[in-house]
Amino acid sequence: MKVRRFPSDSLATVYVAAVVEELMSRDPHPVLGLATGSTPVNLYRQLVDFHRQGLSFSHVTTVNLDEYVGLPADHPQSYRQFMFDHLFSQIDIPLANTHMPNGMTLDLEAECDRYDAILETHPIDLQILGIGRNGHIGFNEPDISLKTRTHVIELTEDTIRANARFFDDASQVPTRAITMGIQSILQAKEIVLMAFGRDKAEAVKRSLSGEVSTDVPASFLQMHPNVTFVLDEEAAGHLEGGGAVGLPHWPLSSGANGRP
Ligand code: GLP
Repeated sequence: MKVRRFPSDSLATVYVAAVVEELMSRDPHPVLGLATGSTPVNLYRQLVDFHRQGLSFSHVTTVNLDEYVGLPADHPQSYRQFMFDHLFSQIDIPLANTHMPNGMTLDLEAECDRYDAILETHPIDLQILGIGRNGHIGFNEPDISLKTRTHVIELTEDTIRANARFFDDASQVPTRAITMGIQSILQAKEIVLMAFGRDKAEAVKRSLSGEVSTDVPASFLQMHPNVTFVLDEEAAGHLEGGGAVGLPHWPLSSGANGRP
C-alpha cells in the first residue's frame, strides 16, 4: 500500500481532488465510489470549486458506500441528504447517476441484492474511503467475520458515539445501516483512503502495518494492489517515523502509478 502524508488535511484534500479530476478527464464514463462523514467534506467542496471552474460531472456515475437504516432520504443526517448538500446539488451530475442504498425500504434483504446488482453493472474505478476510529470502512464494523457483499449491520457503540456529534443526542443515531461489503470495496480498481487527525492514528497504523484481521476491517485493504492512504501528520502520527508535526515528509513515498 502507498502512503502519502501531507502537512495538513487541506493539502491532502487537494491531492485527492486532483486524483478524482485526473480519472474524470481520462475516462469517458468514470464510476466514483463515494464516502460520507466529516473527512471527505472538504474534498467535495474542492470538487464543487473545480466544477465552478469548468469541470463537468455529466459523464460521472457515483455509488455510495452506505446509508443508515430508518432515516428518510430527506432527513438532515441521512447520507443521501449529506451527498445532495455537499456535492450533488452543486454540480451537474444527473441525479439518476447517483446511487445509494435505500435505508427506508421494508425489504432490506431485497435492497441489498438491488445494490449488489448496481455494483456489478457499475464497477468502481476509484473508491474514496474514510476510516472509523475502530478501523471500520463504510459501515463494515469489527467483528468475528466480515461480510463480502452489501448487508445490514448493527453499528457498534463506538461508532454510534462517534456519529452522535451529528445528531441532537446519541439516542437519535440509528443503530443499523446498510453497507457495501468488504469484497465490493476491494473490487474497486483504485482505492484512496483519507484519514485526518490524531483520533485516526491508531486505526491507520493497525490497518497499514498490523495483521489482516476482521478486528480492523481496513486492514483488508492490504490485499488490494492499488491503495493509497492519504494522511495528515496527526493521522500518520503512530506510523514508523511518524508523529513529528511539520517535518518535511511530503511526499513520504511516491505512487507506483507514477503520480508525483
Ligand atoms: C461513518 C461512515 C464511514 C466514515 C466514518 C468516519 O461511520 N460510515 O464511511 O469513514 O464514519 O467518519 P469521519 O470522517 O466523520 O471521521
